[in-house]
Amino acid sequence: MLVSEIPALREYWYNIAYSSDVTNKPVGVRLLGDDYVVWRTADGTVSGAVDECPHRSARLSQGWVTNGRLTCPYHGWQFDASGKCVEIPSNDPGLPIPPLARTHPVLVEERYGLVWMCVGMPRTSIPVLPEAGDDSYTFIHELMQVWDASAPRIIDNALDVSHVSWVHKDSVGSSANPRLEDVKVVRDGESVSFSASYTVRIDEVMRKNTGITSDYSKRTTRGELVNPLMFRGVLEYHDNGLIHVLYKTATPIDDHTTLFCQFVARNDNPDEEKQQLIRELDGRIQSEDRELLQSVRADFPIEATTEIHAPSDRMTIQYRRVLADLAAEHSIARPDNAWARPLAKPPAAAKS
Ligand code: FES
Ligand code: CO
Repeated sequence: MLVSEIPALREYWYNIAYSSDVTNKPVGVRLLGDDYVVWRTADGTVSGAVDECPHRSARLSQGWVTNGRLTCPYHGWQFDASGKCVEIPSNDPGLPIPPLARTHPVLVEERYGLVWMCVGMPRTSIPVLPEAGDDSYTFIHELMQVWDASAPRIIDNALDVSHVSWVHKDSVGSSANPRLEDVKVVRDGESVSFSASYTVRIDEVMRKNTGITSDYSKRTTRGELVNPLMFRGVLEYHDNGLIHVLYKTATPIDDHTTLFCQFVARNDNPDEEKQQLIRELDGRIQSEDRELLQSVRADFPIEATTEIHAPSDRMTIQYRRVLADLAAEHSIARPDNAWARPLAKPPAAAKS
């Protein structure tokens, strides 16, 4: 199953850029295989539209903003914030403007220093982050990168705690201690939440990052699927109670490409120098995930005969079920569509 085969994914909000990257210069973004333009209007709000001029289909993202109006680069038509054409420069003054001369607006909002877009009828609000507005947490924006990997694969990896010991064996993983302990998984509608404890390795970089001085530490991750392509994980270190809340958004550019964004919230009041250390370590860990995920096939089979599951895969089994249900929702299931069929019997410990 590819992202484009799940129409319901058009009904969620996706993080498309840092707020600071959207100015009064129009910028093109690609989401779910389609092209859009976003720009900042005269009153400072961000607007978005399909990246195609209604006149001769030029790319509006190659245009500019005149007095707060989006201006097409081809014949200079100007569009107001509602998308209506209000100026055709080559017309004689006073001639009417065709009523259908409008861009096709899309929903765009700013929150948490990020710009969010929804290209369908939103079924939920922009995700609410529990730590926002809580003074005991510091938010740190870490990275925004285009990965040659499919968005579900990236979220699948975030839910998959058992990879930490292996993919991250050169940073925080402990391949000598790969066991997950106290695993609990709950699926509730579109949401999957879990908790699992495991051992991480504390090298010099981790020591500076966490303040932990032993060579190994137990860590519990309480993770949840915020929406089908967004993950929140509360990483709590047993040694000192440090909490590192990890947010990952996987914005599907198309079936094979994803705008991956990560930011964290920390409860240890890190100063600028420590924030930089946190960014560097998380950047290194993510480059390990990226290298692996960019070589994994983009489609996401669900049948046990295609990708085999083990009991330690309980979180990602439930994730596949969420996507399967979403795919079935819009009646696109073909008779041979494995996604429309329930999984083989889940492991006994899984709750659903
Ligand atoms: Fe945009 Fe002509 S194509 S003004
Ligand atoms: Co990883």
